[in-house]
This record gives sequence, C-alpha cells and structure tokens, in this order.
Amino acid sequence: MTARIAHLSDIHFGANDPRVVAATEAWLLKHQPDLVIISGDLTQRARVAQFREAAAYVNRIRAMGFPLLCVPGNHDVPLWNVARRFLSPLGRYRRFIDNDLCPWFESASVAVLGINTARSLTFKDGRINDDQMRMIEDRFAHVAPDKTRILVTHHPLFSMPIGKGGELSEAVGRHDDAVMAMAGAGVHVALAGHFHQTYAQAARKMVEHAGPALVMQAGTATSTRFRNDERQSFNWLHVHRNNDVELQVIAWTGESFQRGNHIRYGFDGREWRGVPVGHDSPSAKAASR
Ligand SMILES: [Fe+2]
Ligand SMILES: [Fe+2]
Repeated sequence: MTARIAHLSDIHFGANDPRVVAATEAWLLKHQPDLVIISGDLTQRARVAQFREAAAYVNRIRAMGFPLLCVPGNHDVPLWNVARRFLSPLGRYRRFIDNDLCPWFESASVAVLGINTARSLTFKDGRINDDQMRMIEDRFAHVAPDKTRILVTHHPLFSMPIGKGGELSEAVGRHDDAVMAMAGAGVHVALAGHFHQTYAQAARKMVEHAGPALVMQAGTATSTRFRNDERQSFNWLHVHRNNDVELQVIAWTGESFQRGNHIRYGFDGREWRGVPVGHDSPSAKAASR
C-alpha cells in the first residue's frame, strides 16, 4: 500500500511569507496526505510569539485529521537568551509543538522515527548522541521487514553540495556513528532539512559505508530566506514499497504551489537509481493526487 507523505521543513515563523503558509495548508487539505512531516526550524528565533504562530499552524494541520511528525531545528533553540538556551533549550518547543523530541509513526506500510539534532552548544550544525543512536537501532528492530523505515532529522547526516560551486556542507556532529546506526537499523529513507535546498541522493554515493538508504532533503516550505535563489518548496513522497519511492518537489512559483521535479527511485539491491517521471505519465498523474 502506498504511503503518501508531505515532507515540509524550515517553516520559520517570524521570517516567513503568510501567503505561502496559507498555500501549504490549502495544498495539504486538497491532497490529503497519510502523514505530514515537518523537519525542524519551526521558528526563526524561538520567541514565544513565533512559537504561538507555529503551534497554531501545526494545530490547524492536526485538525485537518492528518498525522503529524515534527522534530526541532537549531532555530528552535533560543540564540540570545543564554540562560534559556542552556537550561531549557527546547522548553518552548516542547510546550508549544510537541513534548516528544523523538516521535514515532507507524502504519501498515511505513515506520517513521524523528530524532532531535538541535543542541545548545553546537548551535548550527547539530549533533546525535549515543542514546539516540541506540534508539534508532532499537525502534526499527521491531518493525516488520516489508515496511519502509524512514528516519527524520533536522540536520542532514551527510555532507552534501550546497554552494553554487558545489561546496560541501557540514554534516551533523558524530555523523560517522550516526550513519553506521542508520545502516545497522536498515533505514531505507533519510529525510532532513536545514539547508533550505532540495536534494536527493543514494547515501552510499556520499559515504561508502552508509548502507542502502536514500537521502532526501526538503527545501524551506515557507521561509523568506533562500539559498542559491531556490524559492519555497516541499517534498511530496509516494512510498510504494521499501525499494520504490517517488519524490515530487512541490515548488512555489510566486503565485501558487506547482509540481516541479518528479523522480521515481528504485533500489536494485545495491543502489538507488532515479528515473525522471514525465508529467503526463500514469505515475505522474497518480503522484499528483
Ligand atoms: Fe532553517
Ligand atoms: Fe536549521
């Protein structure tokens, strides 16, 4: 059974475009996802007013009846309030968005684990600790083998090209260990955000011992801060099986969200390979629903 997942990231209340925010809600209502994921940076500066707006947004999505899985991002940790930053870095996130920093969603076809990578000290690049690595292995160990195992973080576990000249990003702290935990847990798809840039690649092409995961980055869904002039977008996934996943980028044109790049990824036992899907093909029509 295909799971239809809307993956939004970096919504940044406090520095976003209300028209784009409203358009994401209208799009979700129209397309009725089986799961909505927001992979961090719900606010711009972790201020109470920004969290109130973010909470209203996630509550409106919950009220539509869609399961919602969120993880915090580095912008959800207060930057200037030093006491709060170190004593209760994610207190506001827990109060307004979700008390659970490592949320879990499981359906007949997918198992999804969110891991918090936002930290007080490594503010920008994030980090994963030993407990979280154990959690990745433990939670997925009990999942039926035919389900698609999906890991969600704000900071990507991998370095990836983010500059116009192909410069590589920083990966999350302890990324080598995290990648091994992910491979040990048999994760099929790793979703993240943070760079405000869409990207998809086989993990093994980035790190040889990464295991057979497919890495997918969402851009910023609603923020007004762009990277490399890439406007707002989010990812629309159709997870057919754990070796067959479609990714469609839903991109803001300035007026509305429209279907952008559309790739169907198949895993051949060693590699994920992507094949572009034409907008007129039956697969494209199914994925647009
Ligand atoms: Fe962000
Ligand atoms: Fe971020």
